[in-house]
Amino acid sequence: MILFDNVSYSAGGTKIIKGVSFEIRRGDFTALIGANGAGKSTLARLCNGLLKPTSGTVRTGGFDTASAKTSRIAKFTGFLFQDPDRQICKNSVRDEIRFSLECVMEDRDEIEMRCERAIREFSFDGEREPFTMSRGERQRLVLASVLAAEPELLILDEPTTGLDYRECMYIMDCISAINRKGATVLMISHDMEIVQDFAKDAMVLNDGMLLAHGRTKEIIRDRELLARASLLPPQITDLALVLGEGYESVVTVGDMVSAVKERSGSKR
Ligand SMILES: Nc1ncnc2c1ncn2[C@@H]1O[C@H](COP(=O)(O)OP(=O)(O)OP(=O)(O)O)[C@@H](O)[C@H]1O
Ligand SMILES: [Mg+2]
Repeated sequence: MILFDNVSYSAGGTKIIKGVSFEIRRGDFTALIGANGAGKSTLARLCNGLLKPTSGTVRTGGFDTASAKTSRIAKFTGFLFQDPDRQICKNSVRDEIRFSLECVMEDRDEIEMRCERAIREFSFDGEREPFTMSRGERQRLVLASVLAAEPELLILDEPTTGLDYRECMYIMDCISAINRKGATVLMISHDMEIVQDFAKDAMVLNDGMLLAHGRTKEIIRDRELLARASLLPPQITDLALVLGEGYESVVTVGDMVSAVKERSGSKR
């Protein structure tokens, strides 16, 4: 679905992405992790053709982003910016969702049907003005606008940053559901618990270079790798790593409780 072949990208005289190669296959759920300034948002914009590589090749959905029209890639790609307010441009929820659909399809009846369905599914008031909504509600609005088009590829730049637990789970459940239906997801996140719980694969970016791409459960246990990218494992994984033998398969609090009980029982 996304193929990077030795991709570099420079802006303002600085090399931001440095010789990155990877492949994301159809149906994958991949997290992109790395410290602030590592180049994650830049890499995301290279994926959907908003930015073109300075050297190397990016192919998305089979299209070379250097020559394909960005609007062609946008037809099957949903993109959530890091800041929802950069995406919202209309004065009502209904107009916002409708506008997002108009960008990728033409059939008026289909647009209206999908727009009303999204309003219903997300329990919005269609007349509500987006800028009177809370940060979490605005994030939900941009996600609803993007999902209404049923994209094959979903690229999300920190979809849960700044949200409370309930909003965060709501958003993640929506993303999970579309991935289960077959959409490919690439999600940037600083929240290692979210990454652990939802992303099957993870890519680690540091200073514009890809340090690793593999199964999330292996990457989050690699303390040395994460340290090189100024990241920490999720807390439960960190504790499991400190405890060592017998705790290798611990991922959740529940696993930890079972492992501790098992070991304290076996010592009696
Ligand atoms: N157009 C540009 N011109 C010059 N420098 C840029 C430009 N765009 C990004 N950068 C620089 O490239 C680096 C990577 O930026 P990017 O926004 O991709 O990082 P990020 O990993 O998304 O960070 P964050 O976690 O803070 O969102 C930063 O040092 C940033 O200042
Ligand atoms: Mg960013």
